[in-house]
Amino acid sequence: MRTIIIAANWKMNKSIEEAHRFALEVHESCKDKEIPGLVPIIAPAYPYLGLLADVAKNCVLEIAAQDVSAHLEGAFTGEVSAAMLASMDIKYAIVGHSERRQYHHESNELIREKLAALQYYGLTPILCIGESLNERDEGNTYKVLGTQLEGCLRGINIHAPQDLIIAYEPVWAIGTGRTATGEQAQEAHAYVRAWLAKNYSKKLAKSISIIYGGSVTPANLGALLAMPDIDGGLIGGASLVFENYRQMIYIAMQKLGVVHD
Ligand code: PGA
Repeated sequence: MRTIIIAANWKMNKSIEEAHRFALEVHESCKDKEIPGLVPIIAPAYPYLGLLADVAKNCVLEIAAQDVSAHLEGAFTGEVSAAMLASMDIKYAIVGHSERRQYHHESNELIREKLAALQYYGLTPILCIGESLNERDEGNTYKVLGTQLEGCLRGINIHAPQDLIIAYEPVWAIGTGRTATGEQAQEAHAYVRAWLAKNYSKKLAKSISIIYGGSVTPANLGALLAMPDIDGGLIGGASLVFENYRQMIYIAMQKLGVVHD
């Protein structure tokens, strides 16, 4: 059974007070609880990482960075290294989000270096890949996904599920309210898993969590999680509201059979 990941990507939203209050509410609802098979994650803005990591101590909640430097240390003004994240007990970081690819011109090669830096310090990268609407309309979805996987993972060793999480995020579904259908997402996830089987091993491919992102809400998460290769969500807009996040954790717990309604 693969781990289900419910990851909130807050992007550049929330004041420190709002972020703190949200994390305290999650802590309050999860404290003393173990939820085997489920990892709830929040990726807040960088300045809040330390505060939220403190709140998440002794709780199933994990905190993720939204990005990381490709460099290990040195004169790189404005950058934050994987070593710094590791020293704060941060165990996850998003890399290759389409907004970073688009607005910061991040290439697959740069993302590969970031991924390697995270792995070097024992963090789990959440690698985002996904096609644009044009690419899908032209029938190039798999070609684009293959190129991104090849470019971001070339030479990267993966031995265990904690070495990598992949987030399939079709660019046309991000922040648009237009979610991929369960079937569309499933097709892409199956492609990614087959790619992992071919380039690593079948056993490893079976164990890696592949999560979906793009206008996920409590209303559509259940249908997505019902698909055999969808192991959770990377959620932007809907994750900014605590009640939505709580509901999405609950939906994942239902899928695991931990709660029944
Ligand atoms: P969204 O964002 O849920 O607002 O579409 C998802 C993401 O960008 O990770």
